[in-house]
Formats: sequence, C-alpha cells, structure tokens
Amino acid sequence: MARFSAGAPIPQRGPASSLYEARLIYEEMGCKAHTYAPAYLPGDFEEIMRYSSHITFNSLTQYQRYARQLEESAISAGLRVNPEYSEVEVDLYNPAAPGSRLGELSQALEGGLPDGIEGLHFHTLCESSSFDLEKVLAAFEAKFSRYFTQLKWVNFGGGHLMTRKGYDTDHLIALLKSFRRRYPHLEVILEPGSAIAWETGVLVSTVLDIVDNHGVKTAILNVSFTAHMPDTLEMPYRPRITGADAVPQAGKPCYRMGGYLAWQVII
Ligand SMILES: Cc1ncc(COP(=O)(O)O)c(C=O)c1O
Repeated sequence: MARFSAGAPIPQRGPASSLYEARLIYEEMGCKAHTYAPAYLPGDFEEIMRYSSHITFNSLTQYQRYARQLEESAISAGLRVNPEYSEVEVDLYNPAAPGSRLGELSQALEGGLPDGIEGLHFHTLCESSSFDLEKVLAAFEAKFSRYFTQLKWVNFGGGHLMTRKGYDTDHLIALLKSFRRRYPHLEVILEPGSAIAWETGVLVSTVLDIVDNHGVKTAILNVSFTAHMPDTLEMPYRPRITGADAVPQAGKPCYRMGGYLAWQVII
C-alpha cells in the first residue's frame, strides 16, 4: 500500500483481503494491515482486528454486524462504495458491472453514512492507466463527495499499473495533487498490487506428454491453469511462452497448452 500526502513519510501499512494476508503483513512486514474483504467470517474477525489499522466493509450490513466490536478499538472503519464506472471490459473482472457484489451503491447511502465510518474505498481498476483512474475518480466524486466532510481517508484501491512501460506517472501525481488540493483533510491511500510484482518472474514448466486429437496437438504441462494461472481462464489472458510466437505461424509446429489436472479446460 502507498499513501499520498505531500511531504509526509510513507507509513508502514499493507493491504490485506483475508485473515491470513493480514497476518502475513503483521508478522512478516511488522506493521498493521489495511484490510478489506467482501464479507468477514464471525470467527475470524477478532484476529483480523488484531492485525489491522483500518478495516473496510463491503456493505452497510457488514459494518453494522461488526461496529460494536470496533467501538473499543483504535481501528479506522471504512466502507467500500461502487462508483458504477469502470473501463474494465470483461464483466467477470469488472467490479462496477451491473449486479456486482462489490461495494455499496450511492442510492444505499441516501440516509447518510453511519457514524463511525471514517473512510470510503473504491476499486474498479485492473491493470489500468492514470487516465482510467481520472474517469473513475470523477464518477466517485460525483456520487460520493457529499460525504467527504465526514471522512478522514479515501482509498483508491488497486489496479494502478504504475510500473508498466509508458504509464504516465506525472499524470498520476498531478491527479493526486489536485485531489489533495480539493480535499486537504483526506488521506489518500492507493493499493497497487500487481504493479509491485509486474514482470518479476516466470512460471517454469515441463512438457509431460503431447496428445494428438484430430491434428490438434496439446502439450501436457506439469502446471495447473486453475491453480497457477487463473487469469488465463477468467480474463482470459494468453500466457507468453519464452521462445514461442504468440500466434500460429505457417510451417512451424503449433501446440495447445494443457494442464495436467483432469478437470481443467484447455486454453
Ligand atoms: C481491495 C484490493 N486492493 C488491492 C488489490 C490489488 O489490485 P491490483 O493487483 O490489481 O493492483 C486488490 C486485488 O484484487 C484488491 O481486491
């Protein structure tokens, strides 16, 4: 997690989406977590509190379910909201798609934000540019800025691919500065996840067999697409293979890649 606050030191906090991520941050990074999950298990919550400085709830009912437990703590409570705007085109990956389970809609807050909510959180980007953020931010402000006076912080979530070649960091900085000028009392939190690990490694796999079915040759790999590369099925991304062309080339051998677990689909 990164915090933008001109001149201020970067705080030691990390984003978590589950009990064990929060524990990892607490035990391995030696700091408290900034935790969000679509719902919290009652049996986990006390332990999550131990590891967290901020806890964001996905709905008003989730907040109401745990508000009493938070009362005696120093934990800052937040609510995830849904700005109903995203540039992400694949519905499964689009948290703002109609019917999404992620974040309260502005209509749900017409009676006001409950006392005790100190932050609003949105997350509708995925490997996005600062220009995508600019559009989401405009939607977020249009729908939710009326509550900003009550808040201490806003969280712009993840999906900021600021380490991708060509990402306009100057534009991002200008956006953040402009937001801070308009709302100087708000701490701004960003949670760039994939940006930190972007192109930092390869998945090494061995071809165990080649299966021929009516001329379609499938290389059976000792990896699992579901377990090791779920995005290749869900998004779907096409993995880049070292030394291979991305698309079939006339006159060159051509293989599908298949996982070694029996129930997997072929990509
Ligand atoms: C609440 C939250 N914050 C941050 C992230 C990191 O997102 P990304 O890896 O796309 O930057 C995620 C990923 O799903 C998330 O759910």
